[in-house]
Amino acid sequence: MKTIQSNIKKAKEYLDNKDCIAVPTETVYGLAGNAYSNIAIKKIYKLKKRPINNPLIVHYYNIDQLKKDCDLNDNFLKLYKKFSPGPITYVLKLKKNSKISKFVTNNKNTLAVRFPKHYLFRKLLKNLNYPLAAPSANISSGLSSVKVSDVQDEFGIKIKFILNGGKCKIGVESTILNLLEKPSILRYGGLDTSKIEKVLKKKLSIKTNTKQKISPGLFALHYSPGLPLRINVRTPHKHEAFVLIKKRKIKLKSYYYLSKTNNMNEAAKVLYSTLRKIKKDGFKKIAIERIPNRGLGKTINDRLKRASKY
Ligand code: TXA
Ligand code: MG
Repeated sequence: MKTIQSNIKKAKEYLDNKDCIAVPTETVYGLAGNAYSNIAIKKIYKLKKRPINNPLIVHYYNIDQLKKDCDLNDNFLKLYKKFSPGPITYVLKLKKNSKISKFVTNNKNTLAVRFPKHYLFRKLLKNLNYPLAAPSANISSGLSSVKVSDVQDEFGIKIKFILNGGKCKIGVESTILNLLEKPSILRYGGLDTSKIEKVLKKKLSIKTNTKQKISPGLFALHYSPGLPLRINVRTPHKHEAFVLIKKRKIKLKSYYYLSKTNNMNEAAKVLYSTLRKIKKDGFKKIAIERIPNRGLGKTINDRLKRASKY
């Protein structure tokens, strides 16, 4: 308990000082900084090597904090009640008098907002008088981090402080919804979109393709382990690490599996760490069998498709 308090205190000191630090969320680790500070936000872009035209998600403790920065609408309120805090991000209209740094939004009048569920991140947010902008804690276009050692592998000594919250429960990033007009899905993620459709009582249109301009971060190569990766593979080539969705015995030395029982939540949780492990094990190429396109399988397929552009 005492260490929790002192770690939160340390995290707050760095953030008050306009530094950026790594924080745990239920989805993936974030690289967080004061969303109202140009200095802090510029540090995030620099450390992550992120193009400045790719806006950041801002994390809030609750709706009262958010009201100062965004206009809320009915769809948002419905979804907030049901799913927040949790793995869903809402794109809303930014208020003109909001104090959000222009670097967070790339000067646009919309803001992506999220209420993370991890108890440590919530404790931290409760102690601050500003929200935290936080992209995933990885070098741009690579794999997100799902544990402290991933963050260390990504940034080495350049990261000043990591708030240790153990392994991320969900393992893939939040689902992003555009709520500016007719709701649409901008990114598949940790919340199954069929659950969102049930609450809104309508089918959502999907705008996750890489050509549209609204979410520049969703362009082609992304979520890449930094190795060539083939998807929907039946028979792997020689020297490829082969990733199976379901554990079973096959006649190959080098295979990995994402789930024991074909469970998509289990698979999403270990996806990035499995890809990182394959690289650490020295493989130069990855082949993955077809992943069922249901539940979080849609998110896994989205990530693999982008990673396969390497
Ligand atoms: O689970 C998550 O969402 C994690 C944790 C740390 O919260 N964060 C995360 O952030 O995945 P990032 O920066 O890696 O991905 C955010 C995505 C980017 O693709 C960005 O283009 C998009 O959100 N985005 C940010 N602001 C936007 C906006 N105003 N409109 C549309 N897309 C936006
Ligand atoms: Mg990211």
